[in-house]
This record gives sequence, structure tokens and C-alpha cells, in this order.
Amino acid sequence: MARFSERSKQIRPTGIRRMFDMAGDDAVQFGLGEPDFQPPDQAIEAFYTAMKNGKNKYTSTAGLPELRSEIAKLWHHKNPNLDESNVCITMSGTNALLDIFLAIVDPGNNVLIPEPYFPLYPPDLTICGGEANFYPCHFDNDFVPKISDLESRINQDTVAILYNFPSNPTGGNVTTDQRDELVSFAKKHDIWIISDEVYDRIVYDGPHVSFFEAGYEKVVMVQSFSKTFAMTGWRIGYLLSAHSQMMKELTKMQYYVTACSNDAMQYAVLEALRKTPNYPEEMCMEFKSRRDLICSRLNSMPGVSCHIPTGAFYVFPRFDIPGLSSEELAVKLLENGVLCSPGTAFGPAGEGHLRFAYTIGKEDITKGMDRVEKVVRELRR
Ligand SMILES: Cc1ncc(COP(=O)(O)O)c(C=O)c1O
Repeated sequence: MARFSERSKQIRPTGIRRMFDMAGDDAVQFGLGEPDFQPPDQAIEAFYTAMKNGKNKYTSTAGLPELRSEIAKLWHHKNPNLDESNVCITMSGTNALLDIFLAIVDPGNNVLIPEPYFPLYPPDLTICGGEANFYPCHFDNDFVPKISDLESRINQDTVAILYNFPSNPTGGNVTTDQRDELVSFAKKHDIWIISDEVYDRIVYDGPHVSFFEAGYEKVVMVQSFSKTFAMTGWRIGYLLSAHSQMMKELTKMQYYVTACSNDAMQYAVLEALRKTPNYPEEMCMEFKSRRDLICSRLNSMPGVSCHIPTGAFYVFPRFDIPGLSSEELAVKLLENGVLCSPGTAFGPAGEGHLRFAYTIGKEDITKGMDRVEKVVRELRR
């Protein structure tokens, strides 16, 4: 008989993929969180050239020094002392998250995790023998946690708090005052801050508020080029921390998880940063007009309330349709040609919500919203 670990048995496939697998070809797809853009041409050409030039080998575990220095410079406006030793290149944000949990979580420890959450966080903790200690990010508080909710959940086994702003799935974001309060909470309890900022350059209506600048050394940032340079399939990201011991531990874990990142791709990303530094902001302008469109459509439907996100490319509207769970509603929409994710794919606190990724053009958004509106009106009749 085939035997599998308890760990593997505990972890279930995500609800997002399940809906995706059920979708027909003509469905308007608000399902997966990946930009409908291609990486900059300069990066694609640099990737090819690097491979032709023999950059097809293992690199040092932390990655190409020039790329790490270039990334450190991106963050000099927050901390001018950063250099390549503060950066470890990873094969994605997903890889970066696992490195962090492996480096700081022992069996029996817990990490404060936002709910609704990016679906990888709890299983990653299970893989490391730890537990997710969920804190709520309510619609009524613009998806930002309340300090009282954090205080009532933290305990002696809590080793870190994970913040994810801008958020997947809610699009929630923080002001500088809120960020300062959240940093003070971690400081007071002397726990690590894991700041997942993979959407840092997809922000609207103001500059990105990073947890990196707020005068606390025990911060480690998860970063990715997936969303900001439309490279989801390339699998490249990085870890950033001003804490030198943390960087050493993370780099050690990175070695055992995947040895190093992809050689030629690191040259491609370096080229993207040098030659197309404003690429994310150009993409972002298009996302902003899609956000405006989808929010105004949703907010004009009966029984639907949509918080207006200031970052990432998701909306997480609340649906008031008595007697229908968010999963049943998502299935109903799928039957009517709209793929989105039930809020509960991001934890039980997502009940009553759906997540729409606006990673499709405005014409398709309009077509999809026409279908959603028809279903909602019929269901509320
Ligand atoms: C909040 C958040 N963190 C991390 C990731 C991981 O991104 P990647 O592994 O593509 O770098 C994602 C991807 O959807 C995300 O939404």
C-alpha cells in the first residue's frame, strides 16, 4: 500500500484551481492572478543572449551580485545602507515564503496570518510543522486588521506576523499611520514581520507604503517579479532584509530548497530593471482604469458592495444573496459564463465574498460584469 506523510495528507488543493479546471472555453476569466501582459522585450532578448553566452550554470545561492546590488538600490530610498548582502534571489515569492518559514518556525510555533489569505500561507506553515494563527481583516475596516484583534490572538508561541499589503485576495492596503501601528505591535512583542509586498508596484492613488522603512530591523520582505514585470511563468523573486543574521539563515535554507535561482534569467531581470525601470508603472495605469470600471459596475448592482482597492489587481466584493454560499454563487456564475473565485478559497472569513482578478481587458470586464449583473438580479428577484 502506498504511504504518504501526515503533512501531505493534511494539505488540500486550492479552491481557485478547482474552479479554473471546471471553466468552459467561453467563460470570462476573472480567475487567476496573473497579468495579461508579456515581460519587456529587452528582458526576453537578454534571457536568450545570456543563454547563448553560456549563462546556463549554477549561480551562487544568493544569486548574481550585480542583480542583488541593483535590487538593493531600488530600496535605498527606504534604507541607504542596503547592499547585495541584504538580498537573496529566489525562484519566486512562493520560494521566498517557504525559506522564511523554514528559517524561523519550529514545530509548535505559530505565525499570525491575515484572513482572508493568499492560499499558500497556511500549507507552508504545515510543511514547516508550525501553525497559522489567523487574524481578521474585515471588509468593514477596509480589510486592515485592528490592533485589538492582534493582541487577543498573539501568544507565547507566536514567532512572527505576516502582513500582505497590497493584499491578495482583498486588494486592501494600509496608510502610513496604519503601517506604523502594525509595526509597533510587532516591535512591542519582539516578533518578526514577514512583509509580502509582491504587489508593491501595482498601487493606485498614492505611493506604496512599505513595512521596510519603519525603523524596525526584524523585517523580512517577500518579493517577486511575477506581477510587476509580468513574469509569472519565469519564477523569479527575492528576499530582502536589513537583518544580517536573517539573510544568512535564509540563504542557507534557499540552498537546501533549490540551490540557487536560474542563471540566464537573472541577467534578463537585470536588463529589465536597467532598461525598462518604468514598465510596472505603465502596466499599472491600465490596471487602474480597469479597477475603476469593475468597481463602478459592481457597486451599481443590487446587494453588492465593493471596497475600492488601492493596490494589486483584485476586488473582493460582498454579495448579499440570502441562502447562497459564496461557493454556490461562484458555481452559478460559472454556469453563466463567468469564472471567479469563491471568497472561501481564501479562508472561512471570505464567506459572502467573491474574488475577481481584473487581469483581462476592459471589453471582457464589461462582458463579464453584464453576465454577473444578470445573475445577481435574477437571484435577488
Ligand atoms: C500575496 C502573494 N504573495 C506571493 C505570491 C507568489 O508569487 P510568485 O510565486 O509568482 O512569485 C502571490 C502570487 O499570486 C501572491 O498573490
